[in-house]
Amino acid sequence: MSKKEPMINPWDISEKINYGKLMKEFGISPMKSLPKAFTKNILFRRGIVFAHRDFQRILEAIRDKKKFVMMTGLMPTGKFHLGHALVAQQMIFYQSLGAELYIAVADIEAYNARGQSIEESRKIAIEEYIKNYIALGLKPQNCEIYFQSDRSKDGKKSNAYYRLQNLLAKHSTFNEVKAIYGEISPGKMLSALLQGSDMLHPQLKEFEGAIPVVVPVGIDQDPHLRLARDISKRIKSPKFIQLSSTYHMFLPGLKGGKMSSSDPSSFIALTDSPKEVESKIKRYAFSGGKDTLEQHRKHGGNPDIDVSYQYLKMFFEPDDTKLKKIHDDYKSGKMLTSELKQILIKKMTAFLQEHQKKRKLAEKQIDKFIYK
Ligand code: TRP
Repeated sequence: MSKKEPMINPWDISEKINYGKLMKEFGISPMKSLPKAFTKNILFRRGIVFAHRDFQRILEAIRDKKKFVMMTGLMPTGKFHLGHALVAQQMIFYQSLGAELYIAVADIEAYNARGQSIEESRKIAIEEYIKNYIALGLKPQNCEIYFQSDRSKDGKKSNAYYRLQNLLAKHSTFNEVKAIYGEISPGKMLSALLQGSDMLHPQLKEFEGAIPVVVPVGIDQDPHLRLARDISKRIKSPKFIQLSSTYHMFLPGLKGGKMSSSDPSSFIALTDSPKEVESKIKRYAFSGGKDTLEQHRKHGGNPDIDVSYQYLKMFFEPDDTKLKKIHDDYKSGKMLTSELKQILIKKMTAFLQEHQKKRKLAEKQIDKFIYK
């Protein structure tokens, strides 16, 4: 019997990600040229959101001024860090384009995949995630944040959401699940189907009815999208519009690899103090510079693997001309690693100080986003 290894497991992703290879294997398309509304955003302009499925449908909805939904979710474990902020920025961007936002707190998934209690998930979701979303600029209008374990106060809506999970189960097979994820526990299987319901339920009549939905995620989540897309095609009633999705690169961790909330020396949390930020960057941020000053001046550094440069590119230096100058100066050896780090530290602490003030004010707003 030939046993095929799953290509990526959403609950356990390895350090090195070969985006090109994954795109080929999964059949995901590279992001093509985008309208101006998108290229104004650095995540799209700089290719950090780099690939998609059926994104055309969303572009058409925007062009034709038709309604569409942005749906995504968060697994509430650990500290809210810069990697999470990358997703938040996309939510806020779609909100500015007029999308209806649906945001799932994956507390059931955290329970099944991480053994974290529902109470703990709720606490972390509010304290870490939702407060930071609000401080980053998420607005309560056309935005609903819900818990997988507690979909809605409205029984009709709640029932429809859980009913859909079962409908998806009915239209799937064990072999199909196995081909996508490998051997997984029944709990994880239920989580995968619930995530399917997360992504598809906005199209139920109890919610928006058939409507284009875009799901912005990291590429590790694509198995869930494939499952939901495949199953939903088989369902005759209700008839779903095929899901669209976009994929962003992972923000690198300080030492390279992935930014992970389980390793404090890999992330910058949005609640880190200026002192912590300075010492983390100086101590940990992986440098693309050369070993000695002479070598660096002579051969220059490599911005493509330098984590400080990557943070400026993905987050903190929106001005393309300034970014290019930093890139070129570093590459030529004119700029040293210590100087590059100093630029980042300055930008980052300014941003975080402002953010942390807003975060204090966010407290009072939380009820406007949940318990709908
Ligand atoms: N599985 C996602 C994660 O681990 C969280 C999630 C739950 C999600 N439901 C979703 C993501 C729906 C996108 C769409 O982070």
